[in-house]
Amino acid sequence: MKKLKVILIGAGNRGEAYTNLMLKLPEKYEVIAVADPEVTRREHFKKLHNMAEENCCKHYDELLSREKFADLVIISTQDKLHYDPAMKAIEKGYDILLEKPIAPTAKECLEITNAAVKKGVRVIVCTVLRYTPLYGTIKQLIKDGRLGDIVSVNHEECVGNLHQSHSFVRGNWGNEGRSACMLLAKSCHDLDLLPWLIGKKCKKIQSFGSLSYFNAAHAPEGAPERCIEGCPHAETCLYNAVDIYLHTDNPAERVWYQTTSTLKQDPTEEEVVQAQWNTQYGKCVYKCDNDVVDHQTVNMLFEDNITATFTMNAFNRGGRFLNVFGTKAELRSALSNEETSIRIFDFDTRQWSEIDVGEGSNELTGGHGGGDAGIVQCLYDYLTDQGKTDAIPTIEESCHNHILVFAAEEARHNGTIVDVDAFIEKL
Ligand SMILES: NC(=O)c1ccc[n+]([C@@H]2O[C@H](COP(=O)([O-])OP(=O)(O)OC[C@H]3O[C@@H](n4cnc5c(N)ncnc54)[C@H](O)[C@@H]3O)[C@@H](O)[C@H]2O)c1
Repeated sequence: MKKLKVILIGAGNRGEAYTNLMLKLPEKYEVIAVADPEVTRREHFKKLHNMAEENCCKHYDELLSREKFADLVIISTQDKLHYDPAMKAIEKGYDILLEKPIAPTAKECLEITNAAVKKGVRVIVCTVLRYTPLYGTIKQLIKDGRLGDIVSVNHEECVGNLHQSHSFVRGNWGNEGRSACMLLAKSCHDLDLLPWLIGKKCKKIQSFGSLSYFNAAHAPEGAPERCIEGCPHAETCLYNAVDIYLHTDNPAERVWYQTTSTLKQDPTEEEVVQAQWNTQYGKCVYKCDNDVVDHQTVNMLFEDNITATFTMNAFNRGGRFLNVFGTKAELRSALSNEETSIRIFDFDTRQWSEIDVGEGSNELTGGHGGGDAGIVQCLYDYLTDQGKTDAIPTIEESCHNHILVFAAEEARHNGTIVDVDAFIEKL
């Protein structure tokens, strides 16, 4: 069995998720090199994967300037740092597992796509929902005709109020100038999932959305810049950073909050406290530099007059809820920490039935409902030419579905309905 040699660029949360899964498949993958400016992360990966010292570098340029020495490059740096390493890795002839979004602008997405096609390398974008048991089962049910012809779809992405505050207000994706718009940073998954499930092209798109709540207008009177300074509302505030970053009980959530706020592999309590004083993770949630929306809807018209609506919003517990309405049956599904389920109401029998979705599909502990493990599994067969499941998109398909996001944003900003083909033509 061929063992794929892997280079990891960006040893943060996502890089760790994929490479930990690869570690469980030692006959298929060997992670041989890492680039990350943070020494604690490099050292952690070096030890874990038994890497040679010369393969552990601060900057990806040190690895990508060498002659090609591996099969696959994982790019899991922050959104604005995908383009440069991706173009350099393509130039060297590497296949790439590229974190979503491909890049923050349509121009960069197209350039990466064109370069990959020209060079003949495979770039697999980490739209991991496609590989979850839940959405894989729904795709199969639709393909098998269980629902008849699809007429309409609605899909909700409930970001979760705490997730929004951590990632999209205080955190890496709160400010469009620093990362990307919300629809690209969070919901490019969903705008990729819908065309894939429906199996048709989106023709027209329209969107509304804004930042209504996480802003200065909602800061309570007398709140200091940082919660740790001693806020008079500390007892009642839902977003007290000291509570969240220092005292969260759930171990998985605490690790996530503390590693992201410090950028350290295993931060000490003192480092977490320092982050409260020195980074945006300690700021009053109503006084950050965030500008991305906290709720947005997208309306889509697909071929054959299929309509779809998508809503993302922050004001909930979290999860994804997809409903598909066909000429023979109605399907309702949930993917959340509490529930992963599919129910179908058949118009013929007038009965609801539950569809088994299998183990490992929990949203948080299952690593995106099993999607992280799914992509790592499918990737191997694809890269070793043993088969490509239709869950794996080509880079052209991923790019096309990212362009739906840019079209929706144009529609939202201009208050128009965007014709997708004309939008692509213009690009
Ligand atoms: N597929 C998904 O569902 C999903 C979920 C969350 C995040 N993401 C995406 O994954 C990407 C990474 O997110 P994350 O949460 O892991 O971020 P992170 O901040 O935890 O990790 C990024 C890492 O890149 C490192 N880095 C910075 N400059 C570098 C350089 N020059 N060379 C090498 N490494 C460098 C940082 O030190 C950090 O360790 C983002 O694009 C994000 O949008 C995808």
